[in-house]
Amino acid sequence: MTKNRHVSLLLAISSFAFCIPASSQPPKAEFMSLESAQPVLRTFSATLPPELRNEPNEVQWQAWVQAQDASIRQRLVTGEEDTLTNLLRFGVSYTKEYQIDREYLAKYGNSTLVNAFAENRANDLIHALASSNANEGIKQMRAFLIQRGYSFKTTSDRARVKKLLLDNLARMRDEFAQFHEELQSAGPAEASHVYAQRGISLDSNLWPDYALDRTLAELVNGGLLKPGSIRRIAIIGPGLDFANKEYGNDFYPPQSIQPFAVLDSLIRLGLTDPKSYQLYTLDISPSVNIHLARAHSNAAAGKPYVVQLPWVSAAPFNKEYLAGFEAYWRALGSQIGAPAEPVAVPLQVVEHTQIRAVSVRPEIARRVTPVDMNIVFQHLSATDPDQKFDLIVGTNIFIYYAAFEQSLARVNLAAMLTPGGFALTNDLLDDKATSHLEEAHRTIIEISSQPQVFDRIYCYRRQP
Ligand SMILES: C[S@@+](CC[C@H](N)C(=O)[O-])C[C@H]1O[C@@H](n2cnc3c(N)ncnc32)[C@H](O)[C@@H]1O
Repeated sequence: MTKNRHVSLLLAISSFAFCIPASSQPPKAEFMSLESAQPVLRTFSATLPPELRNEPNEVQWQAWVQAQDASIRQRLVTGEEDTLTNLLRFGVSYTKEYQIDREYLAKYGNSTLVNAFAENRANDLIHALASSNANEGIKQMRAFLIQRGYSFKTTSDRARVKKLLLDNLARMRDEFAQFHEELQSAGPAEASHVYAQRGISLDSNLWPDYALDRTLAELVNGGLLKPGSIRRIAIIGPGLDFANKEYGNDFYPPQSIQPFAVLDSLIRLGLTDPKSYQLYTLDISPSVNIHLARAHSNAAAGKPYVVQLPWVSAAPFNKEYLAGFEAYWRALGSQIGAPAEPVAVPLQVVEHTQIRAVSVRPEIARRVTPVDMNIVFQHLSATDPDQKFDLIVGTNIFIYYAAFEQSLARVNLAAMLTPGGFALTNDLLDDKATSHLEEAHRTIIEISSQPQVFDRIYCYRRQP
């Protein structure tokens, strides 16, 4: 099956399974108009794609925007392949074999030892993928492979899957080598040029949520946010936490934590009333949207949403940073749910894994509504003031886009915010084109001193 057909299939599944009762239909995303994009087109006139060079009309603009939207969504397929490769490298739910960390990955193909780890991991993963009692995450990966025309029935079917797994491992090794070189020579604002062609992954973990918590506290303390001022919230790209890049986090079901973590912070800081908020998640990924639509309808039927909160205490960060993070983690969820029994941690990773779980109350989870939307080219109800947001959060998203796309996204962010509303992101957005967003605050957190590494949250405010 071609990649295009795969995306169409994913989209078809999403519109079928992504059903929320008509009475509570979420708003629909609209493509941005040519008029709203004009300041960006003027700024980038010297480097515009050929289709946009001769003053396009609205029809030509809409055709271009929709084609680009489809090609961004195509990058999700490579992102899914990366998730599968990370599952192969780090998974602990299906194998006891050594993990393939960065150092081992660099040696793959040239070391009999690493090649043997990879072989054994691939065999064990195929066994798990073919098994009838696979866990939820493995089932998701199996569905992905079957949609792409793979099967597990015969020896030659399984050999084909193995070839794909090992080819992808080699592709990741080569990409890391190339990106490492390019990242070394790029400054912080240029990192997105390096990521701009890569697959879009759904990875997520708790570190950005801690940085957002600290930022929100700073905005309150600095008088930039007033108690009770945040009622409508959007989380762009909430992600789906499963087999992430760094560790073997495949021992719990796929989950989306960020919407709940941000809500917990907002309520604790007195910014949001838990009885009257609305939270929308805006994502291009059918997997994310289907997952959250299911959580929404389960909550409407009275079922809580259980989130596992794992983190790796061996992360190479400062003591002060880890102490602050741990205090945040211990309190996480207290405003929106109750502690639950966490899943058992497999022996291979038990030494460095800290875990708690929280059962999010149904009345909280049912006010979280997913919407399929591409922030680069789309927005929600730009003209209706009642549909605007007081706060929009988007972490680890804009890095996937170059300056032109970031500038279009900036227009869409501004269109969805109330005057004075905030957009928070951990990527510095390109500011060559004028927009109604101005940077109003920056949170800088040192996470490691040797080498010195910082987490940053950029706070953009919608001008009146
Ligand atoms: C790497 S994950 C980040 C998850 C989470 N925000 C975090 O920081 O842990 C990127 C997320 O952004 C979504 N995404 C990427 N590009 C997007 C776009 N143009 N519009 C909406 N969502 C997008 C992906 O589908 C995915 O859910």
